[in-house]
Amino acid sequence: MTVDQPIPASETSHRTTDAIPVLNALADAILVIRRGGAIEFANMAAEQFFDTSLAQMRRRGLAHYVPADSPVLALVEQAFDAEKAVREFGLTLETPRIGRHFVTVQAAPIVEDPDAAAHAVVLSIQAQGIARKIDRQLTHRGAARSVTAMAAMLAHEVKNPLSGIRGAAQLLEGGLSSEDRSLTKLICDETDRIVELIDRMEVFAESPPKPREPVNIHQVLDHVKAIAKAGFAQRLRVREEYDPSLPPVLGDRDRLIQVFLNLVKNAAEAAPREGGEIVLATAFKPGVRLAVPGSDRRVQLPLVVSVQDNGEGIPEDIRAHLFDPFVTTKSTGTGLGLALVAKIVDDHGGVIEFASERGRTVFTVLLPVFRPEGAPK
Ligand SMILES: Nc1ncnc2c1ncn2[C@@H]1O[C@H](COP(=O)(O)OP(=O)(O)O)[C@@H](O)[C@H]1O
Ligand SMILES: [Mg+2]
Repeated sequence: MTVDQPIPASETSHRTTDAIPVLNALADAILVIRRGGAIEFANMAAEQFFDTSLAQMRRRGLAHYVPADSPVLALVEQAFDAEKAVREFGLTLETPRIGRHFVTVQAAPIVEDPDAAAHAVVLSIQAQGIARKIDRQLTHRGAARSVTAMAAMLAHEVKNPLSGIRGAAQLLEGGLSSEDRSLTKLICDETDRIVELIDRMEVFAESPPKPREPVNIHQVLDHVKAIAKAGFAQRLRVREEYDPSLPPVLGDRDRLIQVFLNLVKNAAEAAPREGGEIVLATAFKPGVRLAVPGSDRRVQLPLVVSVQDNGEGIPEDIRAHLFDPFVTTKSTGTGLGLALVAKIVDDHGGVIEFASERGRTVFTVLLPVFRPEGAPK
């Protein structure tokens, strides 16, 4: 069946809608490319994107619309060869005709007969959204860095009260049942961790980061969940959707805990009092790659970790500056949580993005995978 033939009603037991109007209603440009580059189908968004008509595209083929050295062509080839979907973030697609676009591109083979090679690839080009957000995040790295300088100043203000808190928890411990004692232990462990973190941040500016080790993200998330459940997320449901095949990330465990603690804390603060829910999810997606701005290099970021809540969503007016320090809508907020998250994720060679609407906000962290032999990125 070719794409431009609507599915006959007789072929479906429960007929809903023809495929073509659905494809034309999508905001993303969708093209069906045959082996050799002929364009079999393009939806309306694709016609708009390339500023041409479907008939023209069919006549001319993909090579006419994207530069010969474009990674888009390579991606199509890859999808044919690998026989699976491949995706790239942060590509620049530029031609005199369409100008310059910052896009996310996915190429996925159409498999009709599992024993035969795919006859065509579906190319979807997303001109806005994720790719934009990543661009924005990358350009705001500088802002996040200033947090490090400020941490030195804050260290003094934070470390002193922490030692008081720790001492008080230890005094309490004596009169408690063993069940409650696990909570005072949590206080002590957490204050120790914060002190350590501050110590490390103080020297961070001058010294190289500490050696990385393989870190199991699920252990990180479990730890974060335990802290959350014991405190700020007590009344919330925390659901886990873990991908058991997730390989370790190369990183710094304590700082990764900080990342997800900050994200979960924000999620808990955003979630409604009644029926609040946080979803921690992980996935391994080997197809996810990111173009490094200003170079031909691409890094694979196959570890996907997300924190989702069912709150009101991120206020529209702060979205563009969300990762900058001091951006906050909370009366007692610092606006440092996400700035620090962006900085740490950046230091790990990863990327953070978000999607937010009323009732569903997701922060997604993409990280590189740990390679035991220290293979190049
Ligand atoms: N999950 C979320 N849902 C809605 N808004 C959020 C969420 N996470 C962050 N925000 C917004 O981003 C702002 C900055 O967050 P952050 O940097 O952690 O600072 P703080 O939590 O101290 O305000 C918050 O004040 C809030 O407005
Ligand atoms: Mg916060």
